[in-house]
Amino acid sequence: MADTHNTIKHVASPLARQTLLDSDLTRPVAGVKPIRILPWLQVVKIGGRSIMDRGAEAILPVVDELRKILPEHRMLILTGAGVRARHLYSVGLDLGLPVGSLAPLAASEAGQNGHILASLLAPEGVSYVEHHTLASQLAIHLTAARAVVGSAFPPYHHHEFPGSRIPQHRADTGAFLLADALGAAGLTIVEDVDGVYSTDPKSPDGKTAQLLREANAIDLAKHPGPLPIDRACLEVMSTARHIEHVQVVNGLVPGRLTAALRGEHVGTIIHTGLGRS
Ligand SMILES: Nc1ncnc2c1ncn2[C@@H]1O[C@H](COP(=O)(O)OP(=O)(O)OP(=O)(O)O)[C@@H](O)[C@H]1O
Ligand SMILES: [Mg+2]
Repeated sequence: MADTHNTIKHVASPLARQTLLDSDLTRPVAGVKPIRILPWLQVVKIGGRSIMDRGAEAILPVVDELRKILPEHRMLILTGAGVRARHLYSVGLDLGLPVGSLAPLAASEAGQNGHILASLLAPEGVSYVEHHTLASQLAIHLTAARAVVGSAFPPYHHHEFPGSRIPQHRADTGAFLLADALGAAGLTIVEDVDGVYSTDPKSPDGKTAQLLREANAIDLAKHPGPLPIDRACLEVMSTARHIEHVQVVNGLVPGRLTAALRGEHVGTIIHTGLGRS
């Protein structure tokens, strides 16, 4: 009988013989910091409710600012869902739809906002791209154009965590996940307030609200009151691999987004788990 022993090709893998659940065993292999895929990329999340829902009055100045800053940065511009998703949630929840059915519907609203923004920036070569293109062909698109637009919602669909009836992973979370996974240079979140306050500045007792110039994601996640960013985003920030801080800025004040992209402190800086405390 022929000896086939020496012709068998073995695939060497340090993880082959062990459970992936034992972190003592996986850490030497999986504990290494990942590479930065697009280290020059600036990710900008444009608020659905705070900017896009306001229409031309808010959108056109932001588009103008983005257009002017294109020569300085290569950008991934991601849009939130806004008020149409809120309406969709209320109708869907009333009908008893599970969270995994609501997530992609809300994501499609974020995508609609992205299409609007991309149309306005089209003369500059900017176009809307879908998630699968973001995942695999962002680099080539950003070689052809200074920026692309996408939906900030992560594509969880029926994989959305069932802990809440409203999707926990919304636009801010999706924007942070992408920025950190790509090893981007920064993430700026554009709202209609100067940053994160001690309480909602537009609430009845908003006069006492104080602007937080800096905050830690871990501390903010425990903040008892409302926040202008997803709580799930703050949790993800605590395990950041690349992004050290995120800045929340007021897109209704001309120049703030430009300044933030130039590294100036003009809103609230939220330090991730990698940033200083
Ligand atoms: N602690 C807080 N600090 C600042 N703003 C707050 C706070 N709590 C609530 N808000 C409110 O959050 C509003 C922004 O709402 P939200 O974050 O839902 O909008 P958005 O980010 O544009 O929406 P989307 O997530 O759909 O993109 C602000 O206009 C402000 O009134
Ligand atoms: Mg927000």
